[in-house]
Amino acid sequence: MQEKEWDSVAATFEEEVFNVPANDRRGLIEGAVVRHAKPGATATDLGCGVGRTLPLLARHYARVNAVDISSACLAVAREHCAGLANIRYVHADLSNGRKGFPQTDLVLCINTWLSADPVLREGLVSTTCRSVVRGGHLVLVVPAVGSVRLTTLRQVQLNRAQGMDPVDAERRALDQVAARGLGVFLVDSVPTKHFSPEELEVLLSDRGFALERIEKLEYGWDTEFLEPPGWMKAPYPWDWFVEARRVR
Ligand SMILES: C[S@@+](CC[C@H](N)C(=O)[O-])C[C@H]1O[C@@H](n2cnc3c(N)ncnc32)[C@H](O)[C@@H]1O
Repeated sequence: MQEKEWDSVAATFEEEVFNVPANDRRGLIEGAVVRHAKPGATATDLGCGVGRTLPLLARHYARVNAVDISSACLAVAREHCAGLANIRYVHADLSNGRKGFPQTDLVLCINTWLSADPVLREGLVSTTCRSVVRGGHLVLVVPAVGSVRLTTLRQVQLNRAQGMDPVDAERRALDQVAARGLGVFLVDSVPTKHFSPEELEVLLSDRGFALERIEKLEYGWDTEFLEPPGWMKAPYPWDWFVEARRVR
């Protein structure tokens, strides 16, 4: 999705865009934000959307940059956070280099590396990494390839339970996500990049980061299916939660 498309969802963002921080039942994001906070430390929320994580950052960091390609989303974020004086709003396209905001001690980036276009994504990844000061931390959430595979398996099981033969059940389930590129699958008909832990390790270490933690940020099956049957239990769908330190 590009600037115009993100602008068009700004007014209905809460209904349309899955709320990762609100579904982070183990508090992985808040835990990392708090753990890396020091007096005077600065933070940036890259692809901040309507500002769900800005109040948390503003409570724990001296100055916060809220960066997004969508001016409409930034306007909603500014309204949300009206009482918070230490947030600066920056309208920028991260696929095009770091412009208009400084490097900070902490960079939070939740489901912003979604672009199916390898050129735009390369820019997003590089700008994100270059936005962290040396010695600082990147806290990242990205969609997981393994979670799509698991959800597809569950869809096959649902299709079978509805009487489809095994070949049809698998074909229909695969058609729903139709892979288009390296880790690119359809999410609500939008081609969306997903990552494996190994890809994250390579991307981050190539850009001077030491991976400190990678964990599943798990969600309920009701995030994938309208009425998941009672037998659909663990393992659950997930995004990857990553903490990495910039070492060079
Ligand atoms: C899925 S939303 C996540 C928003 C927020 N991080 C959250 O968790 O609620 C992705 C956000 O990334 C922003 N975004 C996408 N591509 C971008 C780019 N090239 N530069 C800056 N922001 C971008 C979108 O405008 C959108 O607000």
